[in-house]
Amino acid sequence: MHTAIALAALVAVAQAIPHGPSSPQSDLAKRDPQQDTELIERSDDLPDVITKSESFLVGGNTDYRPYTVPCPQNITWIRSAIGGVSQNESDYLAKRKPTIDKAVQNMMSKSGLSTPPRTPVIALALSGGGYRAMINGLGMTQGLMEESLESTNAGTGGWLDAVSYMGGLSGGSWATGSFIANGGMLPTDLVQNVLDLDSNLIFPDDGKTSFYYNMLSNVRAKAGEGFPTAITDYWALALGNHLLPKQWRLDTSPNITFSALLNNIPQLQNAQLPVPIIIAAEREPGEKNLPSNSTVWELTLWEYGSWAVGQNNNKTIGFFTPIEYIGTNMTGGKPTDMNKCYKGFDQLSFVMGTSSTLFNAALLTLAQVETNSSFVDWIKDILSDISQANNDVAEYVNFAADYTQLANPLSNLKYLTMVDAGETNQNIPIEPFIVSGRRVDTIVAFDNSADTRYSWPNGSSLWVTYNRALKFQQDFGITIKMPKVPSTDGFVSLGLNQRPVFFGCNSTDTPMVIYIPNYPWTWYSNSSTMQLEYDTPSALKQMESSIRSFTLNGTVPEWPKCLACAMSDRAFAYTAANRSQECQACFNTWCWNGTDVDTAVANDYEPVMGVTPTWLAQNGLSNNVQTSGVSFESASASALSAAKPLIGGASIAAAIAAATFGGIMTVLH
Ligand SMILES: *[C@@H]1O[C@H](CO)[C@@H](O)[C@H](O)[C@H]1NC(C)=O
Ligand SMILES: *[C@@H]1O[C@H](CO)[C@@H](O)[C@H](O)[C@H]1NC(C)=O
Ligand SMILES: *[C@@H]1O[C@H](CO)[C@@H](O)[C@H](O)[C@H]1NC(C)=O
Ligand SMILES: *[C@@H]1O[C@H](CO)[C@@H](O)[C@H](O)[C@H]1NC(C)=O
Ligand SMILES: *[C@@H]1O[C@H](CO)[C@@H](O)[C@H](O)[C@H]1NC(C)=O
Ligand SMILES: *[C@@H]1O[C@H](CO)[C@@H](O)[C@H](O)[C@H]1NC(C)=O
Ligand SMILES: *[C@@H]1O[C@H](CO)[C@@H](O)[C@H](O)[C@H]1NC(C)=O
Ligand SMILES: *[C@@H]1O[C@H](CO)[C@@H](O)[C@H](O)[C@H]1NC(C)=O
Ligand SMILES: *[C@@H]1O[C@H](CO)[C@@H](O)[C@H](O)[C@H]1NC(C)=O
Ligand SMILES: *[C@@H]1O[C@H](CO)[C@@H](O)[C@H](O)[C@H]1NC(C)=O
Ligand SMILES: *[C@@H]1O[C@H](CO)[C@@H](O)[C@H](O)[C@H]1NC(C)=O
Ligand SMILES: *[C@@H]1O[C@H](CO)[C@@H](O)[C@H](O)[C@H]1NC(C)=O
Repeated sequence: MHTAIALAALVAVAQAIPHGPSSPQSDLAKRDPQQDTELIERSDDLPDVITKSESFLVGGNTDYRPYTVPCPQNITWIRSAIGGVSQNESDYLAKRKPTIDKAVQNMMSKSGLSTPPRTPVIALALSGGGYRAMINGLGMTQGLMEESLESTNAGTGGWLDAVSYMGGLSGGSWATGSFIANGGMLPTDLVQNVLDLDSNLIFPDDGKTSFYYNMLSNVRAKAGEGFPTAITDYWALALGNHLLPKQWRLDTSPNITFSALLNNIPQLQNAQLPVPIIIAAEREPGEKNLPSNSTVWELTLWEYGSWAVGQNNNKTIGFFTPIEYIGTNMTGGKPTDMNKCYKGFDQLSFVMGTSSTLFNAALLTLAQVETNSSFVDWIKDILSDISQANNDVAEYVNFAADYTQLANPLSNLKYLTMVDAGETNQNIPIEPFIVSGRRVDTIVAFDNSADTRYSWPNGSSLWVTYNRALKFQQDFGITIKMPKVPSTDGFVSLGLNQRPVFFGCNSTDTPMVIYIPNYPWTWYSNSSTMQLEYDTPSALKQMESSIRSFTLNGTVPEWPKCLACAMSDRAFAYTAANRSQECQACFNTWCWNGTDVDTAVANDYEPVMGVTPTWLAQNGLSNNVQTSGVSFESASASALSAAKPLIGGASIAAAIAAATFGGIMTVLH
C-alpha cells in the first residue's frame, strides 16, 4: 500500500520536471512545487534520499536513456512499404530456412503426410488481454514446442521451429517480448524462474524503494535528453522489471533495446527463434476514440513503420525506418544533425509499454472513482493532472517529418502518438501478417480476449479485422488478405469460440487462419485483464490449461494431422479441388463452412472447466469425452479462490474494479 503511494509521488514529481520544450505536458511543468513537496512528505515510508527533491538530480540508474552517436553515413533512412519486407528480414528468414524445413518435414511425416514443395511462412499472433493474455499466449506457444513433453506427446510439439513470425499486441506483446528476450525459454520454466508474477506489476509488495528510485532516474534521464516522457515510460520499466532477464532490470541495466536483441540473444544470432513483431496504433492529434480504421504500426528487430498510413478515410502506402535510430530528430528524410543520432530509444520495455498503453488508462480511470478515502483522492489529483495532459500515450519522434518524397499525410507531425492497438478493437495482431508484402501462408491466432461477460473470446477481433480489410480494399485500393469470418453472433452460436477453427480454406489469395480460442480445459483461464499479480502455482496451472487449448489435451487423435494440413496447405498451393484426400477430410471437419448467424445471441457463454468442448464431443472427435468438470473440482475451487485483487492493495483495487468494469473493460478485452 505504501509503495503505491511512493510510485504515485514519484510519477508526480517526475511529471513536474520539464520534459523538453515541445513536450505536450507543459502544463505539468508549471505544477506548484509546493504541492509536490507536500505529496512527497506524505509518503512517509520513503528513504531520505527520495524525500529531498534536489537529491533526485544525482545517482540512480540512467541506462534506459537514449544516447547520441554520430549518424551512420550510408543507411536508408526511410523506405516505402512498396518494397515489401526489409532485406534484413528476408536475410534472417533465409538463415532460418533450414530449421523451418526440417521442422516441417518432421511434423508432416509424423502425421504420414508428404512435405510441401516450398517452405511455408507461418506466423503466431498473440492477442492482448494483460497478464491473462501473456500467460495463456505463452502456454499456447508451448503447445508448439518440441521441448514440452506434453505437447510432443499430444503430437503438436515441434511446430514452433517451423514458425517465421511471432506477433504480439498489448499483453501478447509482453509474451512475445519476454519469450524472445529470454532466448525462447520453455514458458513453464519462464513462469517459475524468470517472471515475477507474484509481485504486483505496478506496486511491488516487497517494497523495494530502489525500484522507484531507479525508475524515476531513468525516466528523468530520458526527459533530460529532450524526449517527451509519459506514464508509459514508468509502465514500461515496471514491465521490464518483471518480464526481462535479470541483467536488464532496474537494479542492473534496464537497457535492452529491440534492435540490440539480435546481438544479445544467441538464439536470434542463430535464427533459432521466430521474428518478433510488436504492434501499436497511432492516434492523430485531436482524435479521442480510435476508429477501427486507424493506423497500425509495427516494430520489428530492424524497423519501425506502417504498411498504410493516413487518417481515417484517406490511407496511403506507408513507410519504414531503421528501428535502431528512432529517437533521432529527422527532417526531409534525414537526421537534422548528422553528428547527433540517437540510439537506445527502442527499449524493448518501452516497446512493450507502447503496445499496452491501455494500462495507463486503467490507472487514469481511478480519477473518476467516487470515494471518501483521502488516500485515493490524493492519487486522483495526480492522475487527473496527468490525464489532462493526454498522458496515456507513447510519443515517438516522427521520422517522416517534412518528408515529401513519398505521399505523406504525416509530414506535418513532430511526434507520432502511439497507443495500445487493442483500442482499434482488433485485439489479435493479424495485420502484419495479412499485408501482401509479407507473404504469410498461415496465421495461428491465439485469442485470449475477454469479449463475453465471463471474459471468454467471441471472435470479435477477427470480425473487426475482416471488415477493416474489406474497407481498405474498397476505399483505398489497399489489398489486405484477410479470409472471411463470421460475425460474433455466428462465432458464439456455432461454438467456433470453443475449439480450433480454420478460416480461408476455400481461398487461395489469403493466408489460412488457424483460430485457437482460450478454453478452460483444466483451469479457469479467463482471469481478469486487470489482474496484475498471480501466485506462481496458479499461473502455472493457467498456463498448462492454455497449452491444452492448443493440444486439445491430447484427446483428439486427428488433431495433429489436421493441424499439419492447415499449416502446410498454402505451400502445396492446394485448393478444394486438388487437396489430398486426408487433408480434405480434415478440412471438411475443421474449416468454417461459411454459415453465419445474424440473430443476436447472449454474451453469457459460460464454459465449465474440465468439460470437453461440445463440438468435439458431438462430432465424436475426442477419445476422452468429459461431460462434467468433476476431475478438476478441487482445482476449480482453488482457481476461483485464487482470484487476486486487481492491480493493487485493497482500496485501490476496489476503486479500479469499480471504474474499470464499468468503463474501459469494454475496450480492454
Ligand atoms: C556503412 O558504413 C560502415 C562504416 O562506415 C560499414 O561498416 C558498413 O558496412 C556500411 N554499411 C553498408 C550497408 O554499406
Ligand atoms: C541490415 O542489413 C544491412 C544491409 O542490407 C546491413 O548493413 C545491416 O547490418 C543489417 N542490420 C542488422 C541489424 O543486421
Ligand atoms: C528534436 O528537436 C526539437 C526541436 O525541433 C527539440 O525540442 C527536441 O529536444 C529534439 N529532440 C532531441 C532528442 O534532440
Ligand atoms: C547497458 O548498460 C550497460 C551498463 O551501462 C552497458 O555495459 C551495456 O553495454 C548496455 N547495453 C546496451 C544493449 O546498450
Ligand atoms: C473510419 O473513420 C471515420 C472517421 O473517423 C469514421 O466515420 C468511420 O466510421 C470509420 N470507419 C470504420 C469502419 O470504423
Ligand atoms: C462518503 O461519505 C458520505 C457521508 O459520510 C456518505 O454519504 C457517502 O455514501 C460516502 N461515499 C462513498 C463513495 O463511500
Ligand atoms: C489524402 O492524402 C493525400 C496525401 O497523403 C493528400 O494529398 C490528399 O489531399 C488527401 N485527400 C483527402 C480527400 O483528404
Ligand atoms: C470465468 O468463467 C466462468 C464460466 O466459464 C465464470 O463463472 C467466471 O465468473 C469467469 N471469471 C471471470 C473472471 O470472468
Ligand atoms: C454449417 O454448419 C452448421 C452447423 O455447424 C449447419 O447448421 C449448416 O447447415 C452448415 N452449412 C453448410 C452450408 O453446410
Ligand atoms: C468451401 O467450399 C465447400 C465445398 O465447395 C463448401 O461446402 C463450403 O461452404 C465453402 N466454405 C466457405 C467458407 O465458403
Ligand atoms: C463479442 O465481444 C464484443 C466485444 O469484444 C461485444 O461487443 C459483443 O457484444 C460480443 N458479442 C457476443 C455475441 O458475445
Ligand atoms: C485432460 O487430460 C487429463 C489428463 O490426461 C484427463 O485427466 C482429463 O480428463 C482431460 N480432460 C478433458 C476435458 O479432456
